[in-house]
Amino acid sequence: MHILLMGPPGAGKGTQAANLVKELGVPHISTGDMFRAAVKEGTELGKQAKACMDAGKLVPDEVTIGIVRERLAKDDCKKGFILDGFPRTVEQADALNGILKELGLALKRVLNINVPAADLVERAVGRRICKKCGATYHVSFNPTKKEGVCDDCGGELYQRADDTKETMENRLSVYEASTRPLIEYYEKAGIYTEVDGRQPINQVTRELLQALNA
Ligand code: AP5
Ligand code: MG
Ligand code: ZN
Repeated sequence: MHILLMGPPGAGKGTQAANLVKELGVPHISTGDMFRAAVKEGTELGKQAKACMDAGKLVPDEVTIGIVRERLAKDDCKKGFILDGFPRTVEQADALNGILKELGLALKRVLNINVPAADLVERAVGRRICKKCGATYHVSFNPTKKEGVCDDCGGELYQRADDTKETMENRLSVYEASTRPLIEYYEKAGIYTEVDGRQPINQVTRELLQALNA
């Protein structure tokens, strides 16, 4: 099952992808996670991506499309994937169509997690991530049992460098200008479903799964 998970920054794409992976058993492919891994490794790609991410801007399309093309060609994507945070521009969406065609794959559904801008800054600023296993928490909305320590693996929690109020404002305006137009793009393709992302995490997961089974 090949799925796109869309939504503004902080809408819950990563959180929902983790839940969907458990149900569907397909790989979760997040371009944001791939860039953060490259930053950690200190590669050329990582250096270029870090400058964009810290400013809340998009990494250039040709770079992003290149890493996605490579990733989707791997064997584990044949049976399905959950693509999170890609495409983010019409150019990326057109490129994805081309890549899928080459691979003989087709998107089953585009799921958009809709959350109003007013809620998103608080979601990002309060987000905490496990250094060891990558689990995502929120200081108020999804806290760990013990402060600063991952429930799943006991790892230490950290905050993303781009999860500040200032950077979030840039990320939100980039979303409005470059990514929101993809809603119409996929509506026209007849594979678009929107889910209300203000609901509790497990309810959002239920509605996403319903949309996939419909
Ligand atoms: P990326 O990592 O994709 O960031 P993003 O799109 O801004 O989205 P986030 O990861 O911040 O949020 P999310 O929707 O995954 O929410 P989460 O589940 O964590 O991209 C980062 C950067 O990389 C970009 O700015 C860009 O520079 C670059 N980049 C990436 N892809 C690119 C591309 N295609 N092209 C060019 N550049 C690219 O949840 C957020 C918080 O909310 C958490 O604390 C969570 O616990 C909480 N939460 C989740 N669900 C709920 C709920 N239902 N109720 C209450 N709280 C909730
Ligand atoms: Mg994410
Ligand atoms: Zn952990």
